[in-house]
Amino acid sequence: MTRRSVILGCGSYLPATIVTNDDLAKRVDTSDEWIRRRTGIRSRHIAAHDETTSDLALAAAHDALNNAGINADTLDMIVVATTTPDNTFPATAVKIQAALGLSHGFAFDVQAVCSGFVYALAVADNFIRVGQAKRALVIGAETFSRLLDWNDRTTCVLFGDGAGAIILEASTGIGDSSDRGILSTHLHSDGHHYNSLCTNGGPGSTGTVGHVRMEGQEVFRHAVKHLSEVVDEALATNNLTPDQINWLVPHQANQRIIDGTAKKLNMPPERVVTTIADHANTSAASIPLALATAAKDGRLKQGQIVLLDAMGGGFTWGAAVVRW
Ligand code: UT7
Repeated sequence: MTRRSVILGCGSYLPATIVTNDDLAKRVDTSDEWIRRRTGIRSRHIAAHDETTSDLALAAAHDALNNAGINADTLDMIVVATTTPDNTFPATAVKIQAALGLSHGFAFDVQAVCSGFVYALAVADNFIRVGQAKRALVIGAETFSRLLDWNDRTTCVLFGDGAGAIILEASTGIGDSSDRGILSTHLHSDGHHYNSLCTNGGPGSTGTVGHVRMEGQEVFRHAVKHLSEVVDEALATNNLTPDQINWLVPHQANQRIIDGTAKKLNMPPERVVTTIADHANTSAASIPLALATAAKDGRLKQGQIVLLDAMGGGFTWGAAVVRW
């Protein structure tokens, strides 16, 4: 018998304000045509001034708990993947713990930027597998708009705010890919690329939060390569062939990167969950937002194989194979 983490439910939250490409074209020298053609993005949600990452995360958490049909007090672990915590410390996760009325169990944040959700999923899965947790709330939440330089057209058009959450529960399987739950997770990083996608500040260096700086083409090139490699690794680990994957739910950074991975897997667009057009890149929130979208509209069905992949600053990248 093998201990597995099964996804009991998922939830999401998007701030009410929608900013279109045309809205941005009034602020910087860009166009709806350029943004759509180069990225696939049409619009993004932006948090209100008084809305914090924990507000978004809590709304997604309530939605996930409701979707799973469980009470918050049955959780024993909360992990929040975020690059934009409410405060430098404590972790946003402990704020969620308190807001859910809990003082048992443990809560902490994970920081792997756009790969954050895959990292948090792997961490929670491993805690469950070794028996240190039974029910985990895993959230990806970002107010990435707070890190943007709204005068820099090369970055400000790419990102949005939002939160997604899932509930994991310990179960037992036989140890092969016929089991339900997380079948495998695959994490990688290469810190030599620290400066290719970063903020130009931080609490331990400038004492400021800083703004996003990105060498777009460099990130693009590495994303295509690393995602291709990690997807191969994930399939090989589970003895799966691409045709056995029902759904690809990728990090939503650029439609062209998503299309590249789908093409490699020979997956038609109908089997790829994309939210980038309306959400833009919500960093750690993008995969759980996409999962919640596809679960709620009935695309993800019990027993199907779902492949997640992500790449972000660091560089960090990773993948997960889940039987829904
Ligand atoms: O989630 C974390 C991972 N992040 C990513 O995976 C992002 C990866 N990178 C990308 O998605 C793409 O590199 C971008 C979307 C960021 C940029 O697309 P690109 O096709 O690589 O464009 P580029 O950087 O080569 O720029 C092409 C041209 C440049 O002008 P010149 O030098 O050819 O005259 C840019 O100055 O487009 C210009 N440009 C813009 N024009 C209008 C750059 N940003 C804009 C803009 N509007 N917003």
